[in-house]
Amino acid sequence: MKELELRRNGRPIILKLGGSVITRKEKPLTPNKRAIKRLAREISKAKVKRLIIVHGGGSFGHPIAKEHGIAEGFKDESQLMGFSKTSQAMTMLNEILVEALLNEKIPAATVRPSSFIVTKQSRIERADWKVVAKLLELGFVPVLYGDAVLDSAIGFTILSGDQLVAELAISLNAERIIIGVDVDGLYTADPKVDDSAKLIRNVSLEQLNELKDRIEKAKLVDVTGGMLGKINELMRAVKCGIPVLIVNGLKPNKIYKALLNERVVGTLITR
Ligand code: IPE
Repeated sequence: MKELELRRNGRPIILKLGGSVITRKEKPLTPNKRAIKRLAREISKAKVKRLIIVHGGGSFGHPIAKEHGIAEGFKDESQLMGFSKTSQAMTMLNEILVEALLNEKIPAATVRPSSFIVTKQSRIERADWKVVAKLLELGFVPVLYGDAVLDSAIGFTILSGDQLVAELAISLNAERIIIGVDVDGLYTADPKVDDSAKLIRNVSLEQLNELKDRIEKAKLVDVTGGMLGKINELMRAVKCGIPVLIVNGLKPNKIYKALLNERVVGTLITR
């Protein structure tokens, strides 16, 4: 019981495993099994007391959702199969990840977002976080993911893992957020095309807003390698005082060190 009380008092850490890390982006329905196994080991080794894992869709969720226009809402019946197939693909990916976590003795417990979250115009409208809170309290590691969900205005939509992370962090008063992606963090320009691009190690909300303005004014599309959309979601949590650390989940031990709150190459966003 003492242990239970201790757990109850600690603030959770939220870890997002991006689809670009746990799947092979260019190959439909292909998990990155090596990365998944290594990450499960790193998470197990870090022994975080209260941890919530949220994973993305990568080559499981995105291609099917896109093909059927699920994010744009219900338009005709032909999309129904697309919605169901997107759900099923996400369930499959979730199972692969959870199996790897169980193999490393992590008491993972999946909470399916579509079963308790309804959005309105793709923004979370209703969600009862009590189940997630209760699982944490008991010592489980709740696992959620970006999902195809019902929407009170447009029928259905895609809820991104990043929106879910921000909402969870705010609702459950998280200590910090760690985002694992396939790049080292946020850059001043797209490192894939621009040699002068520099990794931003530390950034405040104010600086981030300036950077965003500059990028939007210059009409540069995706200059930060597609990271800015993610940042927009996560900024809501930062505004509430919850720091966000972006690290490269494809490089060994980055997530491990981040979980232990050790210094690691990446981008730290603070209020
Ligand atoms: C997308 O979640 C989920 C679906 C497409 C069903 P995310 O948007 O968080 O996924 P990644 O991390 O970018 O792949």
